[in-house]
Amino acid sequence: MNINGLKTKAMQRKPASKRASQTGKKLDLSKMVRMNFNENSYGMSPKALEVIKESAVMGNRYDFNATEIKDVIAKKHGFDSSNVLIGAGSSALIDMLGVTFLEDGDEVVLCMPTFAAFVDMAYVNGATPKVVPVNENQEFDLDAMLEAIDEKTKMVVVVNPNNPTSTYRSAKDIEEFIKKVPENVMIVIDEAYLEYATAPDCKSMIHLVKEMDKPIVILKTFSKIYGMAGVRMGYAIADSEIIASMSGCPAAWNVSIMAQKAAIAALNDQDFIEYVKENIVKGREYITKELEQLGCKVFSSQTSFVYFDAHRDPAELMDEMAKENIAMGASEYSRISIGTMEENQLFIEAMKKILG
Ligand SMILES: Cc1ncc(COP(=O)(O)O)c(C=O)c1O
Repeated sequence: MNINGLKTKAMQRKPASKRASQTGKKLDLSKMVRMNFNENSYGMSPKALEVIKESAVMGNRYDFNATEIKDVIAKKHGFDSSNVLIGAGSSALIDMLGVTFLEDGDEVVLCMPTFAAFVDMAYVNGATPKVVPVNENQEFDLDAMLEAIDEKTKMVVVVNPNNPTSTYRSAKDIEEFIKKVPENVMIVIDEAYLEYATAPDCKSMIHLVKEMDKPIVILKTFSKIYGMAGVRMGYAIADSEIIASMSGCPAAWNVSIMAQKAAIAALNDQDFIEYVKENIVKGREYITKELEQLGCKVFSSQTSFVYFDAHRDPAELMDEMAKENIAMGASEYSRISIGTMEENQLFIEAMKKILG
């Protein structure tokens, strides 16, 4: 069978995905402390979990319109439900963005390293990622991105705060950037980790969807602070015409009834979100301080993970950490997801052992 020949030209050209921040080794995560995928070790709101169990009996029914969850999200952010699209995680929304707006010859300007799904999105649809490196502080280099924009640019992507670098750009910087992006270029802002931010100027850009006459798409997920990565639920906020266009994708119907109901319960349980944030911020401060004491260069994190230079090859450090039964991430530098305090301490003990 010549499956390769059946694939689209774009898929034939597409390099292998770099998602999941692994260097190719298959780890048995059931036996390991999972600090590699930026999951939430505190789990989801018990109220959301209860609702999943209760709503499972409705699993034989479709809910094509997802009216209830769209209304709740719209109300939360002060929008109309026509400005909301839900997806099975923001990955599905990224897919829909690509299918709807990208084609051969288009370019997507972004900074690297960042969330690899955006690179995949470009290639899958025949577009090319036009990549500029993050600056020396490991932040999105917005000036370099502006310079990279040309007549082929269809989309620019800002991940704020960024994964894997953990850093952010201020609301003012992003607003200035958006003002300078040409009007025919779509602006995608991924705010997957924003709820973990403590810096006062690390803010959501959702209000700009209303305030600016530009094609801005904000992506949000329930996979991080809401602890629902395996439930698969995310949403996009954008102009209603953008949302209507993306709604034509088959993936627009992919969110289960359980996920929709759980998301509503999770949004209504903000006490749980506060509890998660408090613990993640404590863990972030603890890991940062301990790594610095071990001589690592730690980049200032606004997320649920810490990005650091241990002055060791990140892939090698990841392999050594795996021998200690701790799964961690590696890209240009090392990345450790913040876990429970017990998990954080296990990681620091292992670091002390490995670094000697
Ligand atoms: C920047 C960024 N956006 C979005 C996501 C979440 O993807 P999903 O909502 O599909 O779980 C991740 C997950 O790691 C991420 O790092």
